[in-house]
Amino acid sequence: MAKSKSLFYCQSCGHESAKWMGKCPSCQSWNTFVEEVVSKQEDPREQWKASSEKGAAKAVTLPEIPSEGDFRVATSDQELNRVLGGGIIPGSLVLIGGEPGIGKSTLMLQLGMSLIGMNVLYVSGEESAQQIKMRAERLNLQQSTSPHFKVLTETNTRSIFNAIESAMPQLVVIDSIQTLFSPQLDSLAGGVGQVRQCAAEFMKFAKETNIPVFMVGHITKDGTLAGPKVLEHMVDTVLQFEGDRHLTYRILRTIKNRFGSTSEIGIYEMLGNGLREVSNPSEILISQKEGKVTGATIGATMEGNRPLLIEIQSLVSTASYGTPQRTPTGFDHKRLNMLLAVLEKRCGFRLGTQDVFVNMAGGLTVEDPAIDLAVCVSIISSLEEMPVSEKSCFAAEIGLGGELRAVNRIDQRISEAEKLGFEEIFISRYNNKTTETRKGRIQVKTFGKLTDVFAELFG
Ligand code: TYD
Ligand code: MG
Repeated sequence: MAKSKSLFYCQSCGHESAKWMGKCPSCQSWNTFVEEVVSKQEDPREQWKASSEKGAAKAVTLPEIPSEGDFRVATSDQELNRVLGGGIIPGSLVLIGGEPGIGKSTLMLQLGMSLIGMNVLYVSGEESAQQIKMRAERLNLQQSTSPHFKVLTETNTRSIFNAIESAMPQLVVIDSIQTLFSPQLDSLAGGVGQVRQCAAEFMKFAKETNIPVFMVGHITKDGTLAGPKVLEHMVDTVLQFEGDRHLTYRILRTIKNRFGSTSEIGIYEMLGNGLREVSNPSEILISQKEGKVTGATIGATMEGNRPLLIEIQSLVSTASYGTPQRTPTGFDHKRLNMLLAVLEKRCGFRLGTQDVFVNMAGGLTVEDPAIDLAVCVSIISSLEEMPVSEKSCFAAEIGLGGELRAVNRIDQRISEAEKLGFEEIFISRYNNKTTETRKGRIQVKTFGKLTDVFAELFG
């Protein structure tokens, strides 16, 4: 059969060429040429295309569109439901990005096998059927013998669509999009052109058949590799699976969602027998300490819509080399420098000759500015060798003048701290209005300046 025609286009200026070129003659940029199909006589999904062409395109008004109500399919995985905005939407295309080895295949296999009574086709271009079976046995799910769950090891999209036609799945999982290739293009699997073409074929498939498709996509640390980045605008939902490979916690984060909020996260723990949902993350992020430790504090942060209490550990020690080190883990370097400058200049602590290490527990990266106060208290606790009560927690942003600034969703933070048995929470007095009337077990302490907090804690 004859191949359909493909041309190369510059991704930055649209220049067209019959051959691949390293440098665009029009806009002079390098490495921007990507192969694209121009004529589609050979669409591997002819049947769906044909069916869509039968009904001539017609514009409709909104009331004419039948409303389908809430038609999400809730999975048994609460964390996944949360990040998807309630469940799987029929006909949606979901991209799960993440670094290799983070657990994307495990998550998808668990999802596929837990959808009892739903026909699932798991297409793997990375692992052999034997490997998938071994993994499934390791996950130890009773459903691994279910006739509803089928595995296909194939990378050619034409064969995949043929298999889909005979297997009639209600959910398709593609692992991974980088391993697939469309026979319509000559380029190798994994290139930008192929990844985009394959994703476009699955998008068309999902929209026309109303079958949801989950696509796994690898992404490297810098996020530049061909794959997820070029697909983000195309798919309905982008989930990112992240975490430190050496730690057991994994976070599933919504980057884009046409059917829900993007500020949701799901937390999992990678165990020997698969991923376990962590429904109360604060408990795992606060270590069980042996007695009081200096430099350890608890920050009441928000991850998306979820309050999270996180332990911060600092170590301040005299620098042995000329330039003291400032080493944050899970916290912004510039922000740490700024906080150290505030502590030095506004509160009079001598930190210029000290090495400062700051760690967020559980391998999390915290961007919420409300963590500032907890970080400052933790640093001073280590510097002064004075522990902070493990029943206290903190939530305030620090301004350049050494003032405590109000943070959002303070009520949610206070409630979470109360739920976990904290006895006092330190917040900015500009948050006071909402909390004045609060009557609970937790004592809400409000402060205007960082120096006042230190006077209260360390005398
Ligand atoms: P995997 O799902 O293959 O990652 P990805 O598809 O994102 O590349 O899993 C990665 C790691 O998870 C692997 O190094 C082994 C570990 N793992 C467990 O710790 N427990 C398990 O039950 C499974 C299946 C994997
Ligand atoms: Mg994998």
